[in-house]
Amino acid sequence: MTATGVYGSPPADLAEVAHDAIQFSPLMPGAASLDRLPEGSLEAMTLLAPPGTIERRYALALALRALKNSAPLTALAPNDRGGTRLRKELAAFGLDVQETSKRHHRIVTATKAAGIDGVIAQVIADGGPRFDDEIALWTQPGVFSWDRLDPGTHMLIEHLPALTGRGADFGCGIGILARAVLASDAVTELTLVDIDRRAIECAEHNLDTPRAKFLWADLRDPHPDLANLDFVVMNAPFHDAGQEDKGLAQAFVKRAHESLRKGGVCVMVANRHLPYEAVLKSLFKAVTPVIEDGGYKIYEARK
Ligand SMILES: C[S@@+](CC[C@H](N)C(=O)[O-])C[C@H]1O[C@@H](n2cnc3c(N)ncnc32)[C@H](O)[C@@H]1O
Repeated sequence: MTATGVYGSPPADLAEVAHDAIQFSPLMPGAASLDRLPEGSLEAMTLLAPPGTIERRYALALALRALKNSAPLTALAPNDRGGTRLRKELAAFGLDVQETSKRHHRIVTATKAAGIDGVIAQVIADGGPRFDDEIALWTQPGVFSWDRLDPGTHMLIEHLPALTGRGADFGCGIGILARAVLASDAVTELTLVDIDRRAIECAEHNLDTPRAKFLWADLRDPHPDLANLDFVVMNAPFHDAGQEDKGLAQAFVKRAHESLRKGGVCVMVANRHLPYEAVLKSLFKAVTPVIEDGGYKIYEARK
């Protein structure tokens, strides 16, 4: 049996992917983990490289480790999202790299050479999960706001109302907001949901309490565990695959409404320029703007 891998969704006209390739993107719930794959187990790999530099080099290193010697690696990215750096980055592993360009993407190919295990191991060590002393949390390059407290999150933590019972944190990241919510013993259970497996795994390290539950899931899809909740908190995303997507946060608001019991409350922070108020008002019985500051706005919406 020959196993091949794919990371993300490379455009079909730019790179060929076998129909039975194993998906390894941490942003696709249910995908396999490249970081747990035994060395030398793949016959080929195609990677739509992620935009962050450390994250991209880490993904390339994991892909190379997973490949058998002489197996091909294809990596591609839009020119303005790391594509122009790919050839150099792959060559730095000690590989002979070919590059083509099409539709504002760079597409690079190389075959895995022997004798590069040392450099692979170093890049993996640089990009893996780590405890960050500054923020005193487990984190990993590539996850949302991985090495600093997001100002919207900070503002929401400062203005959290008294929450009680069973709730959820939609788009929990590494669990900074969830940690503040769980500081109250009146919160009996909090389900942390995120589409990013790396964020969920860091959050699991960061919240050592049986009151925290973890869900690697896409909130655009319904989930049976998210029902009859007393509250939902969120610092909703407005980017999908790097593109601004207002529909994403609106989908979060709809999912929050659907997941709450009657009388339950949704507390969210949003960038002031984004149009959430209309969707909140169309769904919830009462919507109260709590505070507006520094480009952010907090809403409390009751079902
Ligand atoms: C603005 S960040 C907030 C992170 C964290 N709550 C905080 O305050 O630091 C939004 C989070 O939503 C996650 N996310 C994006 N799209 C998602 C989706 N469709 N389903 C679930 N989570 C998603 C991102 O991975 C990111 O961690």
